Amino acid sequence: MTKQVRIVAISGSSRVGSTNTQLLRSIAKMAPKNVDIEILSGLEKLPFYSEDLESHNLPTEIVALREKVSAADAVLIATPEYNYSYTGLVKNTIDWLSRPYAKGVLAGKPVAITGASLGAFGTVRAQAHLRQVLHGTNSKVVNRPEVYVGSAHEKFGEDDNFLDASGRAMLLELLDNLIDLAADVNGSEMLAS
Ligand SMILES: Cc1cc2nc3c(=O)[nH]c(=O)nc-3n(C[C@H](O)[C@H](O)[C@H](O)COP(=O)(O)O)c2cc1C
Repeated sequence: MTKQVRIVAISGSSRVGSTNTQLLRSIAKMAPKNVDIEILSGLEKLPFYSEDLESHNLPTEIVALREKVSAADAVLIATPEYNYSYTGLVKNTIDWLSRPYAKGVLAGKPVAITGASLGAFGTVRAQAHLRQVLHGTNSKVVNRPEVYVGSAHEKFGEDDNFLDASGRAMLLELLDNLIDLAADVNGSEMLAS
């Protein structure tokens, strides 16, 4: 029997009208029926990572975030490019998920990354930095395809539909590869039918 696949998605932008959140909604719409993609909300309200909070007063929202990511089969991140890198919102979220040391919920977790930006390079530099950081968290990162959504303001139609057919195919391939990787890590019964 095919298991329901649970993916949590992190948008690197909390902006109303964010093209990265829109990209995640668009991928969620394309997903097979047995794949649930939940876009995490409220990440911009998390405190900055602090070892003092970690050891003495761990906020309840961090406990809930860690539990949610721990329970998920995989993680999908879409980030804008800010000053040639990924955003502080993504970094802070990853820092919280990477601790406690050696017990962070991102260790061994299947992760796929993508991103949208207004510029022509479409988050190439942001995703390269993010890949390096996910090496640090010992996550299992999907290598291909690399999907860079440039000129993001022109890419979406009504109802978050991704307009470009070849881009849509690449996003679907990225999602398929994430599901395959999650099946390798978590057990083959979850493979999409
Ligand atoms: C602080 C800041 C830095 C930015 N730096 C870059 C950049 O280095 N490269 C780029 O392509 N776009 C850059 N942009 C433009 C973003 O790609 C654009 O604002 C994008 O739409 C943000 O994603 P969102 O729509 O999900 O909020 C920058 C925007 C901001 C606010």
